[in-house]
Amino acid sequence: MDTVRIFDTTLRDGEQSPGISLGVGEKLEIAEQLARLGVDVIEAGFPIASQGDFEAVEAIARAVQGPVVAGLSRTGFKDVDRAWEAVRHAARPRIHVFIATSPIHMAKKLRMTEDQVKAEAAAGVARAASYTPDVEFSPEDGSRSDVDFMCEVLQLAVDNGATTLNIPDTVGYGVPEEYGKLIRYVIDHVHGDYVVSTHCHDDLGLAVANSLAGVAAGARQVECAINGLGERAGNAALEEIVMAIRTRPDFFAGVGVNVRTEELARTSRLVSRLTGYSVQHNKAVVGRNAFAHESGIHQHGVLADRETYEIIDAAAVGQEAAQIVLGKHSGRHAFGDTLEKMGLRLQGDALNQAFTRFKELADRKVEITEADLEAIVAEELGAGAVNRFELVDLVVHGGTSSTPTAKVVLADGSGKVEAEASGNGMVDAACSAIAAASGVHGRVLDFKVSSVTSGRDALGDVVIRLEADGRAASGRGVSTDIVEASARAYLNAVNKLARVGEHEPRERTVGP
Ligand code: KIV
Ligand code: ZN
Repeated sequence: MDTVRIFDTTLRDGEQSPGISLGVGEKLEIAEQLARLGVDVIEAGFPIASQGDFEAVEAIARAVQGPVVAGLSRTGFKDVDRAWEAVRHAARPRIHVFIATSPIHMAKKLRMTEDQVKAEAAAGVARAASYTPDVEFSPEDGSRSDVDFMCEVLQLAVDNGATTLNIPDTVGYGVPEEYGKLIRYVIDHVHGDYVVSTHCHDDLGLAVANSLAGVAAGARQVECAINGLGERAGNAALEEIVMAIRTRPDFFAGVGVNVRTEELARTSRLVSRLTGYSVQHNKAVVGRNAFAHESGIHQHGVLADRETYEIIDAAAVGQEAAQIVLGKHSGRHAFGDTLEKMGLRLQGDALNQAFTRFKELADRKVEITEADLEAIVAEELGAGAVNRFELVDLVVHGGTSSTPTAKVVLADGSGKVEAEASGNGMVDAACSAIAAASGVHGRVLDFKVSSVTSGRDALGDVVIRLEADGRAASGRGVSTDIVEASARAYLNAVNKLARVGEHEPRERTVGP
């Protein structure tokens, strides 16, 4: 059986989705979960892009066991050296070097001739190969490149030490038959010992289909991202690629993937929570309706035999109903133990804070499910290590005939600050009071509310994207009370903005 390597780029291309900005702790948590999921390669980031990216890649390389850890790099030596510095602590480090080969990119973006691009590719790959034998090369915008020129560049990459050749459909221009042929052409015309890889974007909604056509044509690595995150319309969705190959062994004969599919749903939820990108209900494999049957005829069929209307077993992708795990009498030990069993690792202060939040919620909610616990942990991780402001108290008043008002008390390290505000509704009043107390006056770009589980005491999960001084940050809050969840989410975003403003300018200096 041939293995199709799953190369996850959630933390690199996925993080380039508009508005996503993950902290080091959040990236580590996602990387740990990707390792549990069993992906073969984690592309942890683009180390030269910013200090934050560098630190995240380095932290992942040091801590995450199992997958290859890759860092992206342009061909310049400064880029390659920085990428190596970040990934070198991994047990299996990879440097992923790229340069564009399409006429439009070479002329308009790089302002380089074909010969210059060839020289750059050869030198960049050779520099990377001087550090590690695991070097990947990508001709950016490959699907819009002259195929023979692209193959010349690929040959130079192999001759200088590249062992994986990735063919990006950077702008999602390809269609399956054509992209499959492109992959075959590369295999037939570039000589040497390498694995060919797909990297497809979803501008025409064809990223998964194109990637699978690539596999059918001989690609043995697929670059993809959880929930299909990525630049613009995103990358091929990892969960769809994996389940297509697993579900259709008749079509993908002789190839398999290493992924532990039971971890797919949890990975999807974690990424959704930490990025603030919700998963559409009818999303294949991980959407909440992926295994829901509405019509009577379908329900009848599924009750008689699940396979009448289901080609995937929900349990095989971890989509079975969340079990009840803890209640208000559970102690710290049981709490920590349960998180550990779920594969969620929290330590020190973060564990204590999550336990305090759990106790508060358990007082208001009879049953705490796995999904609730995941939400609490995601909120704690989203809060990051150092919060400038903590929520001490929130009092809101409102009704159909009075102007809603809110009073908030925050602790800011040196003492307490409080403020009152009114608003269009109780959520608006609470957020305005936090803005007044913290001094961070942001503009709300996005506001999403969802319920973690069902029932009147369900946890409300709120994600707010806030913008201030040209910077944007997402915050998340969970509570049985939607106003409190919103206030927590707002404060979480304020803390991130305050942190960025103080000492962590996270502007990308470059981008692919
Ligand atoms: O889409 C693309 O071309 C990329 C490369 C950097 C691989 O993301
Ligand atoms: Zn890409």
